[in-house]
Amino acid sequence: MNNLAFHRLSYGIYVLTTQLDGKPFGCIINTAFQITSAPPRIAVSCNKDNYTHDKISNAKMFALSVLTEESSQDLIGTFGYNSGRDIDKFKSYEFTQGDKLSLPLFTDESIATFECKLVESLEVGTHTIFIGEVIDCNVLSNSSNEMTYKYFHEVRKAVAPKNAPTYIEVEKNRDLYECSLCKYVYDEDVPFDELPDDWVCPVCGATKDLFEKT
Ligand SMILES: Cc1cc2nc3c(=O)[nH]c(=O)nc-3n(C[C@H](O)[C@H](O)[C@H](O)COP(=O)(O)O)c2cc1C
Repeated sequence: MNNLAFHRLSYGIYVLTTQLDGKPFGCIINTAFQITSAPPRIAVSCNKDNYTHDKISNAKMFALSVLTEESSQDLIGTFGYNSGRDIDKFKSYEFTQGDKLSLPLFTDESIATFECKLVESLEVGTHTIFIGEVIDCNVLSNSSNEMTYKYFHEVRKAVAPKNAPTYIEVEKNRDLYECSLCKYVYDEDVPFDELPDDWVCPVCGATKDLFEKT
């Protein structure tokens, strides 16, 4: 079995958000897809350990901001490799509130947005598939390409963390170095030791000294 076959499935990259008791919550996901058009419904797969998971269960609504190839790596680093349990993810980013459900949306970073009411939750082992009825959706730009999972891997040179359903253990055939901030694992052709001193983490911008041998 070659697990890299899973990388041949296509996805986008999204910020999944919700709001509970007036506070915003959110994380990066790649597993979102449309299920039906009438009524319009989409599904997302969210790890039960994610802080965002229980917030969506309780708020009974969620939103998606569809990221583009220009979306900041810093935003993906903050929302995809850190937990809202530990930091205020929204502090450094501008976001708007949706017209219908007032959910947090990253309109400056996105090509489209969706606001959904939760209609069903399917427990699937480590993850819950949240199914939402789309209450509102908008196209924000026609000039950018949506960021695909492939682009995230091949151009941004980043890997999804363990909580992503698509996570694949990296085969360790030489020393790997992990960013202590965002958990990005450096596994490129140029040996880590030979990278210039001013090289920074492609995901979160951490300096070289913040990397540790795994
Ligand atoms: C590219 C990428 C894709 C991800 N996809 C998913 C996903 O589909 N589902 C999921 O539950 N977590 C996914 N994650 C992991 C969560 O974003 C991550 O665990 C986050 O820290 C959870 O934050 P929270 O605890 O504040 O909810 C992904 C992360 C990245 C960087």
